[in-house]
Amino acid sequence: MDLTLIQNLSLSYISSFALRCAVDLDISGRIQAYGRPMPLNELARSIPMPPEKDSMLGRLMTLLVHQGVFGQSEDGYQLTPASELLLTDGCNLGAYVRLFTQSQSMNDWNRLSEVFKDTGNCTLFEKTHDGKKAWEILKEMPSSGNRFNEAMASQSNSIMRGFVARCSNIFDGLNSLVDVGGGTGTAVKIIAEAFPGLKCTLFDLPHVVENALKSDSFDVIGGDMFEKIPPANAIFLKKVLHDWGDEDCVRILKKCKEALESSKNGGKVIVIDIVIDLENNDTKAVETSLLYDISMMSIHGSKERNKQEWHDIILGAGYSGYKIYPVQLGVNSVIEVYP
Ligand SMILES: C[S@@+](CC[C@H](N)C(=O)[O-])C[C@H]1O[C@@H](n2cnc3c(N)ncnc32)[C@H](O)[C@@H]1O
Repeated sequence: MDLTLIQNLSLSYISSFALRCAVDLDISGRIQAYGRPMPLNELARSIPMPPEKDSMLGRLMTLLVHQGVFGQSEDGYQLTPASELLLTDGCNLGAYVRLFTQSQSMNDWNRLSEVFKDTGNCTLFEKTHDGKKAWEILKEMPSSGNRFNEAMASQSNSIMRGFVARCSNIFDGLNSLVDVGGGTGTAVKIIAEAFPGLKCTLFDLPHVVENALKSDSFDVIGGDMFEKIPPANAIFLKKVLHDWGDEDCVRILKKCKEALESSKNGGKVIVIDIVIDLENNDTKAVETSLLYDISMMSIHGSKERNKQEWHDIILGAGYSGYKIYPVQLGVNSVIEVYP
């Protein structure tokens, strides 16, 4: 068992790259287009690839079926809810898979132990990118910025449909909402379309909103959330606070509070982010949260937070209270924060 654990963890990067291979070969799209369970030879001919490689493809599929990414019946391979997320005419989560399996990532992660020995606060990302922060690189290199925004949009697609369906009462009584750090607008568009009476605004850095989705359903404002956030009676912060350390989160939350207060109507901040719960019986969810935590530590020098850490930054920013919704959106929780 102990040996298996170490062997499994040593090889687990292969899971990431097997998934990446399935994305690059668009296996989900091919099974969808086939319209019924797809035999191996049909899948292979659709790629197309030399017939002598069919057994290689079969072995790749055996792993991915075992992991639950694809299903299999006597008649062939099938989509599962997981592989449906990869469909390019659906959530297109393949963009997210590509972001995390970039060729440079492996070289960078190889240097993680060096960061522990360094003095100072340089993150793994800064160490492997000439001291630059991730946001600087995304601004300076439009191709990286586009890849990142596309990945965030695909993640938004997969989270937001469930959010508006399962948490619609969060929007009761609201008349305006600003999605702060909303990227190119996937989330705010889904909210605006689900709640047409709500005046929605996308707010992100100017060079990010330049590439915002074109839509009449929301306004677009470029700016810096550390300076001023446009007024509204709901501020939406999805996957933003985990990018920042506690002091910066308190600064952002204080700016959100100013924006709520200047809209006169009270309101709330709606946060979607991970709440780490080591007691959760879903061990896959706990492990995924912890993997995100190491990722945030290494990219931004930030973190995923447990209940106590959320409590501390929320009350530290002067809010009167908060409620963690009994809803899980993948590994993400929904936190309603009251001024
Ligand atoms: C992890 S992404 C999340 C994007 C989006 N909320 C989502 O869930 O897909 C964080 C976002 O924060 C934005 N951001 C970073 N610094 C910012 C700042 N100072 N002011 C406004 N937005 C900022 C980034 O451009 C990026 O779009």
